[in-house]
This record gives sequence, C-alpha cells and structure tokens, in this order.
Amino acid sequence: MQAVKEAVALRNGVEMPLVGLGVMHTYGSECVRSICEAVDAGYRMIDTAAIYGNEQAVGTGIRECGADREELFITTKLWVQDASYERAKLACETSLQNLGLDYLDLYLIHQPLGDIYGAWRAMEELLDEGKVRAIGVSNLNIGRLVDLSMHNRVIPHVSQVEIHPFYQQTRAIQEMKNMGIHPEGWAPFAEGRNDIFRDKRLVSIGRKYGKTPAQVILRWDIQRGVSVIPKSSHPARICENYDVWDFELTAEDMDLIAEMDKGKELFFEHDSPEMARMFGSYCIH
Ligand SMILES: NC(=O)c1ccc[n+]([C@@H]2O[C@H](COP(=O)([O-])OP(=O)(O)OC[C@H]3O[C@@H](n4cnc5c(N)ncnc54)[C@H](OP(=O)(O)O)[C@@H]3O)[C@@H](O)[C@H]2O)c1
Repeated sequence: MQAVKEAVALRNGVEMPLVGLGVMHTYGSECVRSICEAVDAGYRMIDTAAIYGNEQAVGTGIRECGADREELFITTKLWVQDASYERAKLACETSLQNLGLDYLDLYLIHQPLGDIYGAWRAMEELLDEGKVRAIGVSNLNIGRLVDLSMHNRVIPHVSQVEIHPFYQQTRAIQEMKNMGIHPEGWAPFAEGRNDIFRDKRLVSIGRKYGKTPAQVILRWDIQRGVSVIPKSSHPARICENYDVWDFELTAEDMDLIAEMDKGKELFFEHDSPEMARMFGSYCIH
C-alpha cells in the first residue's frame, strides 16, 4: 500500500494536515465537544471563519482539547466586509482575540469579493510579522487565482474551494499544483446532497475495504493530494472520518469516482451578481 502521510508541506515548509474538522454551523458546547472528540480521534486541523460566528467556541475547544498549540493547525477566514488593506489587519486581530491565539496557521480570504488585492497585501504583511504561518484564498475561480498569483509578492499557499465527487475540479487542482498552491476542498460530502452517502459506486468501492462511502470520499481526496475538512458533530462520525489511513483506492476505483463528476458547483455561483450582492452586504460587525 502506498504510504500516505497525514500532512503535506506547503511551499514555505509549513506542515498542513490532509484531514481536518470543519466547524461551520457548530456552536457553543457542541463546537467545543466536537473539537475535543476530533483531537482524541487524531485530527490536528480545525477550519473556521469569522462569519461562522463560532471563533470563541473554537478557542475554548483549542484550550480544552489537550493538544499543545504547536501540534494544531488552525484556519480562519477574512469576511468580505473586511476585505481591504486596513480592515484585514484589524479583522485578523479580532479573530486572534476571539480564538485566544497569538498566531494562525492559515488565514484565508473567504470570498473573491471586495478589495481582495488590498486585503492580500495585508495578509502578506501578517505573514512577514509571524501573525499567520500561511496565507491563502477561498472560492476564487482558477483564472482569478492565476491573476492574484501573477501580480503579488506572495503566491497563495492554499486555495480552498468546493470539491466533492460531483464537482471534482480536476483541472483547477492541477493548475494549483503547477503554481505550488495546495488545494483544500470544502463540503467533501456535498453536505449529503444527491444522496451521496448511498451512492452505489461509493458503497461498492467501500465494501471491498470495509469502509463507508464517507471514508471512500475522503480517501479519494487524500490520494489526489487534496486536504479536506469534513464537518460532523457526531462522535462516531468524527472518528469514522479520520479512519482513512489504512486502505488504498485502486486506479479503477478512482476512475469509477471520476464518473460521478457533474462539472458544476452544487452550492454558490461565486461569480454571479446575486452572490456578489448577498455576500457583499452581509455584515458581521
Ligand atoms: N470556504 C468556504 O466558502 C466554505 C464553504 C462551506 C464549507 N466550508 C468548510 O468546509 C467544512 C465542511 O463542509 P460542510 O460542512 O458544508 O459539508 P460536508 O462536510 O460536505 O457535510 C457535512 C454533513 O455531512 C454529515 N456527515 C459528516 N460525516 C458523515 C458521515 N461519516 N456519514 C454520514 N454523514 C456525515 C454531517 O452531519 P453530522 O454533523 O450530523 O454528522 C453534515 O450534515 C465546513 O464545516 C467549513 O469548515 C467552507
């Protein structure tokens, strides 16, 4: 079996886990408990965002989970309202305070909206100052990612986008890798849409290895060199989603999953006028 490490080195040498816990829509004690259970199960990466409204609970989880700060990889994201040079610096301080941390492992621009070039210059400086160990973007289509990378001092270390079997983003992932940008997939289970957990192809592949469709999906991501952040607040599923290191999908399995690709996002059309208006007017403070 091909040995798979549980982390990859980003372009600047920072180690980023391949599997982390997503905590969107997870609040208060449920969020704290999920983080503690995840760390017990082996996770070291947590993905939150300023707009999720749970950074303080994530901070409590970090303090209560029993892992040393240096073992953990904490990501948060800059919301659209704060996408400018000045506001990004303040927003980073606010997120650090909410989380109770003195540095982030990864800071992402959450949406391709607002003054993201100004925000990016602030992110570059936050990196220089050691407030963040790596910087990246989320939801930029591949053309915009190339453009941002061509016209700035620091190329993003990470690009977090929608990736699941129904929207595989094969070309975008290859382009990212060509630029030395590590791909990270959000909604790896497509939030359960299209009955993904009962998909016949995933069930039949999983049966060969004694694994669930969820585990097959996460293993598929890992074997494509994509970090993933599945969300669950159920203890058994949190464990299940990290138990993906002891089997290997064959080329035939990967080809079968490739057939599931519909080539189109299932969630937001980030380039649409509706999204620009909706996200652009959503204030978090
Ligand atoms: N950058 C962005 O714009 C962006 C957008 C969306 C999400 N994200 C990040 O990505 C993370 C994950 O995405 P997501 O939360 O949208 O969706 P997801 O991880 O694709 O799916 C989560 C859903 O799957 C269920 N689930 C989890 N594990 C399961 C399992 N083993 N078997 C059956 N059901 C299972 C969860 O239910 P239970 O909790 O009940 O188990 C939940 O309903 C988020 O939490 C967030 O951190 C980022």
